[in-house]
Amino acid sequence: MGFPAQRPRRLRGSAVLRRLAAETRLHPASLIQPLFVVPGRNVEKEIPALPGQRYLSADRIGTAVARAVEAGIGGVILFGQPERKSADGQSAWDAKGPVQEALRAARREAGGALALISDVCLCAYLSHGHCGVVKGEGVDNDATLPILGRVACSHAEAGTDVVAPSDMMDGRVGAIRGALDGAGFQGAAILSYAAKYASAFYGPFREVADSAPEGFGREGYQMDPPNRAEAMREITLDIEEGADAVMVKPALAYLDVLREAATRFDAPLAAYNVSGEYAMVKATAARGWLDERRAALEILTSIRRAGASMIVTYWAVEAAGWLGGRRA
Ligand code: PBG
Repeated sequence: MGFPAQRPRRLRGSAVLRRLAAETRLHPASLIQPLFVVPGRNVEKEIPALPGQRYLSADRIGTAVARAVEAGIGGVILFGQPERKSADGQSAWDAKGPVQEALRAARREAGGALALISDVCLCAYLSHGHCGVVKGEGVDNDATLPILGRVACSHAEAGTDVVAPSDMMDGRVGAIRGALDGAGFQGAAILSYAAKYASAFYGPFREVADSAPEGFGREGYQMDPPNRAEAMREITLDIEEGADAVMVKPALAYLDVLREAATRFDAPLAAYNVSGEYAMVKATAARGWLDERRAALEILTSIRRAGASMIVTYWAVEAAGWLGGRRA
Protein backbone atom coordinates (compact mmCIF):
# COMPACT_ATOMS: atom_id res chain seq x y z
CA MET A 1 0.00 0.00 0.00
CA GLY A 2 1.52 3.27 -1.07
CA PHE A 3 0.39 6.47 -2.66
CA PRO A 4 -2.37 7.69 -2.87
CA ALA A 5 -3.52 5.98 0.37
CA GLN A 6 -0.31 6.97 2.08
CA ARG A 7 0.43 10.65 2.17
CA PRO A 8 3.11 11.54 4.73
CA ARG A 9 2.32 15.20 4.14
CA ARG A 10 -0.95 14.84 6.14
CA LEU A 11 0.86 15.02 9.47
CA ARG A 12 2.81 18.04 8.32
CA GLY A 13 -0.32 19.94 7.44
CA SER A 14 -0.58 22.13 10.52
CA ALA A 15 1.48 23.29 13.46
CA VAL A 16 -0.56 21.18 15.93
CA LEU A 17 -0.11 18.02 13.89
CA ARG A 18 3.62 18.64 13.47
CA ARG A 19 3.91 19.20 17.19
CA LEU A 20 2.00 16.01 17.95
CA ALA A 21 4.08 13.94 15.55
CA ALA A 22 7.46 15.30 16.63
CA GLU A 23 9.81 12.43 17.52
CA THR A 24 12.32 14.59 19.36
CA ARG A 25 11.60 17.24 21.93
CA LEU A 26 14.04 19.82 23.10
CA HIS A 27 13.56 20.87 26.71
CA PRO A 28 15.38 23.60 28.67
CA ALA A 29 16.22 21.06 31.39
CA SER A 30 18.54 19.26 28.92
CA LEU A 31 20.63 22.37 28.33
CA ILE A 32 23.85 23.37 30.09
CA GLN A 33 25.22 26.91 29.87
CA PRO A 34 29.00 27.49 29.92
CA LEU A 35 30.13 30.43 32.07
CA PHE A 36 33.62 31.96 31.97
CA VAL A 37 35.02 33.05 35.30
CA VAL A 38 37.92 35.50 35.47
CA PRO A 39 39.90 36.97 38.38
CA GLY A 40 39.03 40.33 39.91
CA ARG A 41 35.87 42.07 41.02
CA ASN A 42 33.05 43.68 39.10
CA VAL A 43 34.21 42.24 35.79
CA GLU A 44 31.50 41.74 33.19
CA LYS A 45 32.98 41.94 29.72
CA GLU A 46 31.80 40.84 26.29
CA ILE A 47 33.85 38.04 24.71
CA PRO A 48 34.64 39.11 21.14
CA ALA A 49 35.11 35.57 19.77
CA LEU A 50 31.80 34.44 21.31
CA PRO A 51 29.18 37.13 20.73
CA GLY A 52 26.55 37.09 23.48
CA GLN A 53 28.91 35.47 26.05
CA ARG A 54 30.71 37.31 28.85
CA TYR A 55 33.70 37.05 31.11
CA LEU A 56 32.45 37.31 34.68
CA SER A 57 34.28 37.72 37.96
CA ALA A 58 33.10 35.42 40.76
CA ASP A 59 31.15 38.26 42.43
CA ARG A 60 29.12 38.70 39.22
CA ILE A 61 28.33 35.04 38.69
CA GLY A 62 25.20 35.24 40.84
CA THR A 63 23.31 37.30 38.26
CA ALA A 64 24.14 34.88 35.45
CA VAL A 65 23.14 31.92 37.60
CA ALA A 66 19.87 33.62 38.56
CA ARG A 67 19.14 34.08 34.86
CA ALA A 68 19.91 30.40 34.21
CA VAL A 69 17.56 29.34 37.04
CA GLU A 70 14.86 31.64 35.71
CA ALA A 71 15.29 30.13 32.23
CA GLY A 72 14.81 26.65 33.68
CA ILE A 73 17.96 25.15 32.17
CA GLY A 74 19.50 21.98 33.60
CA GLY A 75 22.85 23.33 34.67
CA VAL A 76 25.82 25.61 34.21
CA ILE A 77 29.40 24.55 33.54
CA LEU A 78 32.15 26.80 34.84
CA PHE A 79 35.46 27.46 33.11
CA GLY A 80 38.12 29.51 34.83
CA GLN A 81 41.09 31.69 34.17
CA PRO A 82 43.73 32.19 36.85
CA GLU A 83 45.40 35.41 37.90
CA ARG A 84 48.67 33.95 36.72
CA LYS A 85 49.58 30.85 34.70
CA SER A 86 52.41 28.76 36.07
CA ALA A 87 54.69 25.81 35.33
CA ASP A 88 52.85 23.49 37.73
CA GLY A 89 49.29 24.82 37.29
CA GLN A 90 48.95 25.30 41.04
CA SER A 91 46.33 28.03 40.71
CA ALA A 92 43.92 25.38 39.37
CA TRP A 93 43.40 23.93 42.87
CA ASP A 94 43.55 27.17 44.81
CA ALA A 95 40.63 27.15 47.26
CA LYS A 96 40.26 30.88 46.60
CA GLY A 97 40.64 30.64 42.81
CA PRO A 98 38.03 32.24 40.53
CA VAL A 99 36.23 28.94 39.79
CA GLN A 100 36.16 27.88 43.44
CA GLU A 101 34.83 31.31 44.49
CA ALA A 102 32.32 31.25 41.65
CA LEU A 103 31.08 27.80 42.68
CA ARG A 104 30.35 29.09 46.18
CA ALA A 105 28.60 32.17 44.82
CA ALA A 106 26.63 30.07 42.35
CA ARG A 107 25.51 27.73 45.12
CA ARG A 108 24.35 30.66 47.27
CA GLU A 109 22.30 31.93 44.36
CA ALA A 110 20.96 28.69 42.92
CA GLY A 111 20.58 26.48 45.96
CA GLY A 112 19.36 23.26 44.40
CA ALA A 113 17.62 24.85 41.42
CA LEU A 114 20.14 23.69 38.82
CA ALA A 115 23.23 21.52 38.55
CA LEU A 116 26.65 23.05 39.09
CA ILE A 117 29.26 21.50 36.83
CA SER A 118 32.92 22.47 36.71
CA ASP A 119 35.41 21.81 33.95
CA VAL A 120 38.54 20.12 35.22
CA CYS A 121 41.54 20.79 33.01
CA LEU A 122 44.96 22.39 33.36
CA CYS A 123 45.26 24.06 29.96
CA ALA A 124 44.19 27.51 31.19
CA TYR A 125 46.48 27.28 34.23
CA LEU A 126 49.73 25.97 32.75
CA SER A 127 52.05 28.47 31.05
CA HIS A 128 52.37 26.34 27.90
CA GLY A 129 48.61 25.82 27.47
CA HIS A 130 48.67 22.03 27.36
CA CYS A 131 46.19 19.90 29.28
CA GLY A 132 48.87 18.25 31.40
CA VAL A 133 52.47 18.32 32.57
CA VAL A 134 54.82 18.64 29.59
CA LYS A 135 57.86 16.42 29.32
CA GLY A 136 59.96 16.76 26.17
CA GLU A 137 57.75 16.73 23.10
CA GLY A 138 54.65 15.41 24.82
CA VAL A 139 52.35 15.49 27.82
CA ASP A 140 53.25 13.19 30.70
CA ASN A 141 50.06 11.23 31.30
CA ASP A 142 50.73 9.69 34.71
CA ALA A 143 52.33 12.78 36.22
CA THR A 144 49.17 14.72 35.33
CA LEU A 145 46.70 12.38 37.07
CA PRO A 146 47.27 13.34 40.73
CA ILE A 147 47.04 17.03 39.81
CA LEU A 148 43.65 16.49 38.17
CA GLY A 149 42.53 14.68 41.31
CA ARG A 150 43.54 17.66 43.40
CA VAL A 151 41.71 20.11 41.16
CA ALA A 152 38.56 17.97 41.27
CA CYS A 153 38.69 17.86 45.08
CA SER A 154 39.04 21.65 45.29
CA HIS A 155 35.91 21.99 43.14
CA ALA A 156 34.01 19.47 45.25
CA GLU A 157 35.08 21.30 48.38
CA ALA A 158 33.66 24.50 46.85
CA GLY A 159 30.35 22.75 46.23
CA THR A 160 30.28 21.55 42.64
CA ASP A 161 27.76 18.78 41.89
CA VAL A 162 29.68 17.41 38.93
CA VAL A 163 33.31 17.59 37.83
CA ALA A 164 33.94 17.35 34.11
CA PRO A 165 37.48 16.33 33.16
CA SER A 166 38.34 17.48 29.61
CA ASP A 167 42.04 16.67 29.38
CA MET A 168 41.93 13.18 27.76
CA MET A 169 44.67 11.67 29.91
CA ASP A 170 44.35 7.88 30.17
CA GLY A 171 43.12 6.77 33.58
CA ARG A 172 42.02 10.19 34.73
CA VAL A 173 38.46 9.20 35.58
CA GLY A 174 39.73 6.47 37.93
CA ALA A 175 42.30 8.83 39.43
CA ILE A 176 39.70 11.55 40.00
CA ARG A 177 37.18 9.07 41.45
CA GLY A 178 39.86 7.79 43.84
CA ALA A 179 40.88 11.28 44.89
CA LEU A 180 37.27 12.39 45.45
CA ASP A 181 36.38 9.30 47.47
CA GLY A 182 39.59 9.55 49.47
CA ALA A 183 38.70 13.10 50.44
CA GLY A 184 35.13 12.24 51.42
CA PHE A 185 33.41 13.51 48.27
CA GLN A 186 31.70 10.23 47.34
CA GLY A 187 28.66 12.20 46.21
CA ALA A 188 30.44 14.34 43.61
CA ALA A 189 29.64 12.99 40.15
CA ILE A 190 31.95 12.74 37.15
CA LEU A 191 30.85 13.77 33.67
CA SER A 192 33.77 12.71 31.56
CA TYR A 193 34.63 14.22 28.21
CA ALA A 194 35.14 10.60 27.15
CA ALA A 195 35.38 11.08 23.39
CA LYS A 196 36.99 14.44 22.88
CA TYR A 197 38.48 14.98 19.46
CA ALA A 198 41.44 17.14 18.47
CA SER A 199 39.20 19.59 16.65
CA ALA A 200 39.51 22.83 14.74
CA PHE A 201 36.12 23.80 16.17
CA TYR A 202 37.61 24.84 19.53
CA GLY A 203 39.17 27.88 17.85
CA PRO A 204 37.11 30.63 19.51
CA PHE A 205 37.30 28.94 22.94
CA ARG A 206 41.09 28.92 22.90
CA GLU A 207 41.12 32.61 22.27
CA VAL A 208 38.62 33.07 25.09
CA ALA A 209 40.42 30.85 27.59
CA ASP A 210 43.84 31.97 26.36
CA SER A 211 44.72 28.29 26.26
CA ALA A 212 46.19 27.70 22.79
CA PRO A 213 48.94 25.09 23.24
CA GLU A 214 52.57 25.98 22.62
CA GLY A 215 55.12 23.95 20.68
CA PHE A 216 52.93 21.08 19.55
CA GLY A 217 49.22 20.43 19.10
CA ARG A 218 46.82 18.36 21.19
CA GLU A 219 46.74 15.48 18.68
CA GLY A 220 48.97 13.42 20.98
CA TYR A 221 46.22 13.14 23.59
CA GLN A 222 42.88 14.16 22.10
CA MET A 223 41.20 11.78 19.65
CA ASP A 224 41.83 11.59 15.94
CA PRO A 225 38.74 12.70 13.92
CA PRO A 226 38.63 9.61 11.64
CA ASN A 227 37.97 7.23 14.56
CA ARG A 228 34.61 5.98 15.76
CA ALA A 229 35.37 2.54 17.21
CA GLU A 230 38.05 4.15 19.34
CA ALA A 231 35.44 6.51 20.79
CA MET A 232 33.43 3.47 21.93
CA ARG A 233 36.58 2.09 23.59
CA GLU A 234 37.23 5.42 25.34
CA ILE A 235 33.64 5.53 26.62
CA THR A 236 33.82 1.92 27.83
CA LEU A 237 37.02 2.65 29.76
CA ASP A 238 35.63 5.79 31.36
CA ILE A 239 32.46 4.02 32.48
CA GLU A 240 34.57 1.19 33.93
CA GLU A 241 36.69 3.74 35.77
CA GLY A 242 33.62 5.30 37.36
CA ALA A 243 32.26 7.99 35.04
CA ASP A 244 28.62 8.76 35.92
CA ALA A 245 27.95 10.33 32.53
CA VAL A 246 29.98 10.57 29.33
CA MET A 247 30.35 13.22 26.68
CA VAL A 248 31.13 13.41 22.98
CA LYS A 249 32.79 16.60 21.79
CA PRO A 250 32.40 18.42 19.43
CA ALA A 251 28.81 17.60 18.50
CA LEU A 252 28.05 18.45 14.90
CA ALA A 253 30.87 16.78 13.01
CA TYR A 254 30.46 13.76 15.35
CA LEU A 255 26.72 13.04 15.36
CA ASP A 256 27.44 9.50 14.14
CA VAL A 257 29.66 8.91 17.18
CA LEU A 258 26.93 10.25 19.41
CA ARG A 259 24.32 8.02 17.79
CA GLU A 260 26.41 4.92 18.19
CA ALA A 261 27.22 5.76 21.81
CA ALA A 262 23.51 6.24 22.52
CA THR A 263 22.64 2.80 21.17
CA ARG A 264 25.56 1.03 22.83
CA PHE A 265 25.67 2.46 26.34
CA ASP A 266 23.07 3.01 29.01
CA ALA A 267 25.08 5.73 30.78
CA PRO A 268 23.68 9.27 30.50
CA LEU A 269 25.11 10.84 27.38
CA ALA A 270 26.10 14.47 26.84
CA ALA A 271 27.29 16.36 23.79
CA TYR A 272 29.23 19.61 23.63
CA ASN A 273 28.02 22.02 20.97
CA VAL A 274 31.40 23.78 20.89
CA SER A 275 32.53 27.35 20.38
CA GLY A 276 33.30 27.01 16.66
CA GLU A 277 29.86 25.55 15.98
CA TYR A 278 28.24 28.48 17.78
CA ALA A 279 30.52 31.08 16.19
CA MET A 280 29.82 29.80 12.67
CA VAL A 281 26.11 30.42 13.11
CA LYS A 282 26.65 33.78 14.83
CA ALA A 283 28.95 35.00 12.06
CA THR A 284 26.64 33.83 9.30
CA ALA A 285 23.56 35.28 10.98
CA ALA A 286 25.36 38.59 11.46
CA ARG A 287 25.63 38.79 7.67
CA GLY A 288 21.94 38.11 7.34
CA TRP A 289 22.62 34.78 5.63
CA LEU A 290 20.56 32.64 7.96
CA ASP A 291 18.13 32.94 10.84
CA GLU A 292 20.03 32.37 14.09
CA ARG A 293 17.11 31.16 16.16
CA ARG A 294 15.92 28.60 13.63
CA ALA A 295 19.46 27.40 12.92
CA ALA A 296 20.29 27.08 16.62
CA LEU A 297 17.13 25.15 17.47
CA GLU A 298 17.67 22.89 14.46
CA ILE A 299 21.23 22.17 15.59
CA LEU A 300 20.20 21.48 19.19
CA THR A 301 17.35 19.25 18.01
CA SER A 302 19.75 17.29 15.79
CA ILE A 303 22.01 16.65 18.78
CA ARG A 304 19.05 15.39 20.83
CA ARG A 305 17.87 13.28 17.88
CA ALA A 306 21.33 11.72 17.61
CA GLY A 307 20.93 10.58 21.21
CA ALA A 308 22.36 13.10 23.68
CA SER A 309 20.26 13.64 26.78
CA MET A 310 22.30 16.67 27.87
CA ILE A 311 23.71 19.40 25.66
CA VAL A 312 26.37 21.90 26.61
CA THR A 313 25.68 24.94 24.46
CA TYR A 314 26.36 28.68 24.43
CA TRP A 315 22.71 29.10 23.45
CA ALA A 316 21.37 27.35 26.57
CA VAL A 317 19.73 30.30 28.34
CA GLU A 318 18.62 31.96 25.13
CA ALA A 319 17.27 28.73 23.65
CA ALA A 320 15.33 28.07 26.86
CA GLY A 321 13.63 31.42 26.29
CA TRP A 322 12.77 30.45 22.73
CA LEU A 323 11.36 27.17 24.01
CA GLY A 324 9.16 28.80 26.60
CA GLY A 325 11.48 28.67 29.62
CA ARG A 326 10.44 26.90 32.81
CA ARG A 327 6.97 26.29 31.46
CA ALA A 328 8.30 24.25 28.52
C1 PBG B 1 39.70 22.58 27.94
C2 PBG B 1 38.50 22.69 27.11
C3 PBG B 1 38.39 23.11 25.77
C4 PBG B 1 37.02 23.19 25.50
C5 PBG B 1 36.35 22.78 26.64
N1 PBG B 1 37.28 22.45 27.61
C6 PBG B 1 39.42 23.54 24.82
C7 PBG B 1 40.37 22.60 24.24
O1 PBG B 1 40.40 21.41 24.47
O2 PBG B 1 41.21 23.13 23.50
C8 PBG B 1 36.42 23.63 24.19
C9 PBG B 1 35.08 24.21 24.30
C10 PBG B 1 34.62 24.93 23.08
O3 PBG B 1 35.31 25.03 22.04
O4 PBG B 1 33.49 25.45 23.14
N2 PBG B 1 40.44 21.44 27.86
